[in-house]
Order: sequence, then C-alpha cells, then structure tokens
Amino acid sequence: MNTKYFFPSRISSLAKLNRLLMSEEYKGSKFFILVDENTYTHCLPTFISRVSALEQAEFFEVPVGEEAKSLEVAAQLWGALLDSGADRKSVILNLGGGCISDIGGFVAAGFKRGIRYINIPTSLIGMVDAAIGGKTAVNLEKAKNQVGFFHQPEAVCIYPEFLDSLPDAEWKSGYFEMEKTMLLTDADLFNDFVHQSTASMVYDPLKLCEHIRHCVDFKRSVVAADPYETSIRKILNLGHTFGHAIESFAMQKHIPCSHGAAVGFGLACELYLSVKKLGLSEKIYNDSLSFKRYHSEFPQLSLRDTESILAFMRQDKKNRDGLILCVLLQDIGVPMIDVALDDNEIRDALLKNSKF
Ligand SMILES: NC(=O)c1ccc[n+]([C@@H]2O[C@H](COP(=O)([O-])OP(=O)(O)OC[C@H]3O[C@@H](n4cnc5c(N)ncnc54)[C@H](O)[C@@H]3O)[C@@H](O)[C@H]2O)c1
Ligand SMILES: [Zn+2]
Repeated sequence: MNTKYFFPSRISSLAKLNRLLMSEEYKGSKFFILVDENTYTHCLPTFISRVSALEQAEFFEVPVGEEAKSLEVAAQLWGALLDSGADRKSVILNLGGGCISDIGGFVAAGFKRGIRYINIPTSLIGMVDAAIGGKTAVNLEKAKNQVGFFHQPEAVCIYPEFLDSLPDAEWKSGYFEMEKTMLLTDADLFNDFVHQSTASMVYDPLKLCEHIRHCVDFKRSVVAADPYETSIRKILNLGHTFGHAIESFAMQKHIPCSHGAAVGFGLACELYLSVKKLGLSEKIYNDSLSFKRYHSEFPQLSLRDTESILAFMRQDKKNRDGLILCVLLQDIGVPMIDVALDDNEIRDALLKNSKF
C-alpha cells in the first residue's frame, strides 16, 4: 500500500490532511482520535480546530508512555470502538508520540481484521521514526514490543509546530534517533546535526524541518524496499541491539531511561565495536560520544549489570542460531547487517561506554 506523506510547504500539512479526510475515499467514515493526557492538552485543540473534517470525531485517551502499549489497553479500545459503532470504514487518527502510534496502529490492525489509520506524530521520535513504516506493537510484562503486526498507515502528517510543547527530555530522546539516521546516510548531515544539537538546545527551525524530512524520506525508502524487515530494513536497528537490551534492563531496575537515551547509549557501544571490528574512523565514534555525553544521563554500569544486559541481548528477536547479531558501521552511510558479537565484545563495549 502507498502511505501518503504530508509535509509543511506553502500549504499547512494539516490543511492537506483535511483535504484527504474530506475526499470521496473517506465519505461516510467515522473518525476516532487517539491521544494521551499531554497530547490531549497540547495538541488536540489545534488539531481539531485546523482539521474541520474532524468536527464529529470522537477521541479516546490512553495512559501516557509505555503503559499505553498493553493488551489490556488494546482490549479497552476495541470495546470502545464497538460501543461507538465503529465499522470497517472507520479510521483511527493517532495524535501523539511513538507510544500512541504503536498502540493505535496495533488496535487498527486487529479491529475487524484491519481498519485504516493515520499517524500525526507530535514528538520528535514520532516524526523521525515511529510514525513511519507500519510496525505496530504492544509490550508484554517486562519485555518490549513482543506482540505486533505490520500494518501500514494510510497517511503520515508532519506538523512540526506540535513540537513547541515537547519537554526538553523528549527532544534529547529524539536527537538520538536522528543521529542514527544521519550515521546511516550522510557525513555532512551528521556533522551538521551534531553541531546543531550539541551547540545549543535551540535548533534552527529551518534546519530542524530539513533534518526531519531527511529522516522521514530515508526511512520511507528503506521500508518501501523491505516492508517486512527480511533484509535491508535491518539497518534501521543500528544502536538498537544494545539499545533495546539497555532499555529492558532499565525497566527491570526502575532506572528512568527513555527509548532515545537507551538508543544513544546503544549507538556509542555499536560505534565502539565498529571501530574495533570494521575499522570505522575513531573520529566518528568520538563525535558521537561527545553528543551522548551532552544528552544522556545514564548510571555507571557494574559487572553484574553487564551480565543482565547480555541476558536481554540473548533474547533479541533478530538473533539466529544462538548468535547475537548486530548492525555495525564501516563508514557513515555504509552499514553492515548481521555482524555476530561474542559475549566478551559486548561486556567490553558496555563497560567502556558507561564511563564518562
Ligand atoms: N513502530 C516503530 O517503528 C517505532 C520506532 C521508534 C520508536 N517506537 C516506539 O516509540 C516509543 C517512543 O516514542 P516517544 O518517545 O514519542 O513516546 P511517547 O508517545 O511516550 O512520547 C513521549 C512523551 O512525550 C509526550 N508528548 C508527545 N508529544 C508531545 C507534545 N507535542 N507536547 C508535549 N508532550 C508531548 C508524551 O505524552 C510522552 O510523555 C517507544 O515505545 C518505541 O518503542 C516505535
Ligand atoms: Zn528507536
């Protein structure tokens, strides 16, 4: 299926979305907007006032953050959709960050064997990553993203003004996902980006739009080439083999750690191993490290902690034949997928990169 993308231009992206929802394709459709408490307060008023097609829309509010991504919340939403008379022509509009698009996409994929949904990302992670690509998921007890579907959104609408209310910590979190994309694509953009986002917390708005668009276009092209992640799409996991294990470890230990901060730590570990195993230039690793130091607060790991993280890495969905497989970089824009790591390499990377 062909997802439509709406970016700001002379016409606002919300006006473009409105035009789509007013079109013949959506005639007679009921609209349901999914929000959490923060996007209800900061984004919903603008959204419904700019998108007149949503005058009659109902909205559902789910818990903030990872708590929304559960089978219980999904079941509640399916029940609420039935109670509201939703049918196969109904459309879910996910107005929020990655947690909202993950649970909203999941609910859309399951309801009556699949209804349409549209992502309107309001966080930086949402705009540069989570809203694109059709991966939907809920978490199981203590393990993230264990149950999900591939179900592509009908449209993704990028309206950067929503970022005006995004808290500082969520900006930092998004920067690491952007760093991942820059590392996978373009050395000039990587340098530009590292300087923009370490020099000041105030991103030049034009640059920000340009960088968001670059990330969206890149992810779109990778997803189009490999929608079900059997080959090239695996490169998007750069930083995430370590990152997901660090995130699960933090969840288990009740250490506050956003997805982006875990990815930042994961990127540092994976670039460190890229230098050692694939000869990546040390300068790239060091640039990335200064960026991580600036944006992340993660406690120093003990030897016992590294064993716990290693145990999470052994459960990674991407492993094969008992090997822990990872994406590493030969150079900016030159990733290598399925590089096998041994336990000592992993311990070394974790210990070296949790020190500042
Ligand atoms: N499906 C995918 O391809 C994919 C890719 C990357 C990440 N993810 C998932 O996305 C999640 C992380 O994304 P996230 O950080 O956007 O999560 P999130 O939805 O929890 O948003 C982060 C926080 O920002 C708040 N927020 C969002 N927009 C706001 C705004 N405009 N103003 C004020 N507050 C706002 C939210 O309420 C929340 O507290 C993780 O669960 C991760 O697994 C999925
Ligand atoms: Zn991520």
